[in-house]
Order: sequence, then structure tokens, then C-alpha cells
Amino acid sequence: MRRTFPSLCILLLLLLLATCANPGPEPEQLQRNEKKAQKLAELKALSRISALPTKIKSPKDNPLSPQKVELGRLLFFDPILSGNKDVACATCHHPENGYAEFLDISIGVNGKGFSSKRVFKEPNDIPFVKRNAHTILNTAFNGINIDNEYAPEKAPMFWDVRVQSLESQALEPIKAFEEMRGHGYEEEEILNVVVARLNDIPKYRQLFADAFLEKEAVTINNLGKAIAAFERTLVTNNSRFDQYMRGDNSAISLSEKEGFELFKKVGCANCHNGPMFSDYKMHVLGIPENDKLPTPDNGFEERFAFRTASLRNLSFTPPYMHNGSIPTLKRVLEFYEDISGGKTRNESVSKEQLDPLVNEITIKVKDMGPIISFLNSLNDDSFDKKIPEAVPSGLQVGGNIH
Ligand code: HEC
Ligand code: HEC
Repeated sequence: MRRTFPSLCILLLLLLLATCANPGPEPEQLQRNEKKAQKLAELKALSRISALPTKIKSPKDNPLSPQKVELGRLLFFDPILSGNKDVACATCHHPENGYAEFLDISIGVNGKGFSSKRVFKEPNDIPFVKRNAHTILNTAFNGINIDNEYAPEKAPMFWDVRVQSLESQALEPIKAFEEMRGHGYEEEEILNVVVARLNDIPKYRQLFADAFLEKEAVTINNLGKAIAAFERTLVTNNSRFDQYMRGDNSAISLSEKEGFELFKKVGCANCHNGPMFSDYKMHVLGIPENDKLPTPDNGFEERFAFRTASLRNLSFTPPYMHNGSIPTLKRVLEFYEDISGGKTRNESVSKEQLDPLVNEITIKVKDMGPIISFLNSLNDDSFDKKIPEAVPSGLQVGGNIH
């Protein structure tokens, strides 16, 4: 104490002198600095990232059971759910393609072939599905926030979050004209038609009864519940990055660590945050349109906003963005370099309409390599890829894909 006292006095004196010599920043400047610091703190709080939980939650009225999951798997692969009995969920979300497909926008009704080789049969009057198919992997966690909280009954679904929960989502493709319904049936009747078909197959009647322990168990609701239960088991929560976040410092390489730091530093984590690398909010980026579509896709609330994509398992999900218009990760990063520099890549979206957080992006060409390495540490191939040998309808497993 005695030794530090004189030096403290000198320090105070110096400080006093300094303040006298320099009247200090103007009040406005102070205010601006304060605002900037506040903004930085806000962004920092926003950009938290963690490992995925090791357990999944189900809605209260749809607990998981092995019977339900196996029934859901059969339904997922069975084209009996489509109007013409030729398209299954697995047609566009196949385990060999990470439960997505290597196609920019999907082909459902009147299509043939698998993934990137899928085309329309001739003659054809069915339009493309206007968006890129998400992977089903980890949709169990849709909506999870930076504190690992989520409500499965309210989980946001689709690029414009127009549906909530896996249970409700599962019925949508069946009703959609170009995805599964086709010409033969009206939207209002197709679900009843499908349920009647399932009821006519004794094996399905048995499997629904076993899964739901009800008398008349083959219902529209239970159809959605069984598929959702199966989907909830398709998780990848043990990527090398998750291992790193749980404390294994050697799980990712030095350049991947560098990439992770850059990812946060250049502003990606302002939107791609939480354990799914998505804030599940809508942002306007002005993604280039897909030329195959006759009109621009104006997204959420017709303002060209789309949901932040998860960045897990990107190696299974090219091409990228809601319309598959960007083929590689390198091109994605070049796209961000363009928009952060104030260049819009979509003629319907002006610079002023871009999300304010786009201004915070500071990506340079030299950052791209490490960021891509880091993104690759989020791939996890250890998911359930089991394909049923046959489905109870006796139709082709996965639809018209071979
Ligand atoms: C013809 C291709 C096709 C078929 C068949 C299809 N889907 Fe999809 N799926 C898509 C496309 C495209 C999207 C994105 C659509 C959008 O966001 O507007 C999507 C989105 C989803 C999502 C949302 C994921 C997320 O993160 O928001 C789920 C879940 C899903 N599909 C499950 C299913 C189920 C279950 C079936 C069968 C009942 C099915 N799909 C049939 C193409 C297909
Ligand atoms: C302003 C919020 C925001 C910021 C900042 C942001 N993104 Fe995105 N990102 C999105 C949205 C929204 C989408 C989906 C856009 C669409 O398809 O219309 C997306 C999509 C992506 C995709 C495509 C994923 C897929 O499966 O299609 C990748 C990869 C990606 N972002 C990486 C990054 C990287 C790397 C950065 C930092 C340079 C970044 N993002 C910064 C909001 C953001």
C-alpha cells in the first residue's frame, strides 16, 4: 500500500493534466460512441452459438414411440400419399441425399428419376415446386433459440414460416398440387382420399392401431403425427463442431477454429446463431431469382424476405438458398461480399430494402477459405439412413425415382 500510494498520486496528477489539456469529446460524439458500443454489445449478445441438445422434445400430444416412428417411416416412403401414387415424401427428401435433394427446385407430380437427374415426363403441364427442398435432418429443432429453448408445437416450417409444427407441415405437401396431389383430386378432398386408401390396407390399419392405441386410428391427425414422430428421430447433434462446443478442443482443426472466429467477426452470426445457426427470422437479402420460374418469388409478406437457413449439413444440401440459385459455398460467400458492398443481386430488391444487418457484414476474399472449412465441421453423416424394403401399399418405395 505504502509503495503504491505515491505512484497513484502521480497517475491522478497526470490524468488531471490530460483532462485539462483535452476538453474531451463533444456531447454528440459521446452519444454516438455510446450508441455504437451499445449496438456492438447487442450484436454480441445476439451472436451466441452452442452445440445442439443431445435430447429432443416432442409436443405433449404426440410423444415418441418406436411403433409410431416405424409407421412414420413407412408413410414417408410410401407414394400412396400422392394423388397419382407416384410421389412419396422421400422422393424429394431421400436419406441418400441427406433427406434433401441435389436439385435447385423440386419436381413432384409427373416427375421421374432421382435427385439431380429428376425430370418431368412428357407431355407435362405441371409446374416446378417453386422452392428448394429443405433437409428433414434436425427439423426436430426448428425454432430453437440461443438459449436452446423451443416449442415443437410451434416450430416454424418452410422458407416463409407459413406453417407451424412438423405435425401440421406433414399434411401440406399432400395437399399441394405440384408436389403430391396432381390433377385427380381437389385440395379439400385429398386428405380424406388418402386416409380412405390407408384404411383399405389391413397392414396400415394394424400399424396405426398399434401406434395410437385407438379404435379408429387411421385419421388425418394421426397421419401427421406418425410422420412427425419419424422426422423427429432424424437428428445430427454430434458433428465435430458439437464435440468441440462440448469441450473436445481437438475435434476441429486450427483453420476451422480460425474460420469459426471469422464467421462471428465478419457478421454471419448476427443472423446464423443458436445451435441451429439460424435465428428463424425473416431477412431480405435479395437472392437472385431462379430463371426456371415464370415470376419472381416475393417470399414472406411479399417483401422478398426469407427465413435464415440453418448451416448444418451444408454438404448434403447444395444448391443453396430458397430457390437453389447459388450452386456452391464459395459463390454464397461472394454473394455476401457483393451485398455488403451495397450491390443488390435481385432487380426487384433495392439496396435500401436489404436487411440492416447486411451493412454489418465485413467479409473479405481472404476470409472465405477458413469460413468454408469451418462450415464443413458442421456436417454429420451419422443419421438414420434406413430405407424400408417394401411399403404396405406394395407401391414403389420412395415413389417414381428409379
Ligand atoms: C416434390 C418434392 C417434395 C415432396 C414430395 C415433399 N417435399 Fe417437403 N419440401 C419440399 C420443398 C420444395 C420444401 C420447401 C418449401 C417451402 O419452404 O416453401 C419442403 C419443405 C419441407 C419441410 C420444412 C423443413 C423446414 O426446415 O422448414 C418439411 C418438414 C418437409 N418438407 C417434409 C415433407 C414431408 C413429410 C413430405 C411428405 C408428406 C414432403 N416433405 C414431401 C419438397 C418436397
Ligand atoms: C441479415 C441476416 C444474415 C446474415 C448477416 C448472413 N446470412 Fe446467411 N442467410 C440468411 C438468410 C435469410 C438465408 C436464406 C436466404 C434465402 O434463401 O432467401 C441465408 C442463407 C445462407 C446460406 C444458404 C444455406 C442453404 O442451405 O441454402 C449460407 C451457406 C449462408 N447463409 C451463409 C452465411 C455466411 C457465411 C454469412 C456471413 C458472411 C451469412 N450467411 C450472413 C441470413 C443471413
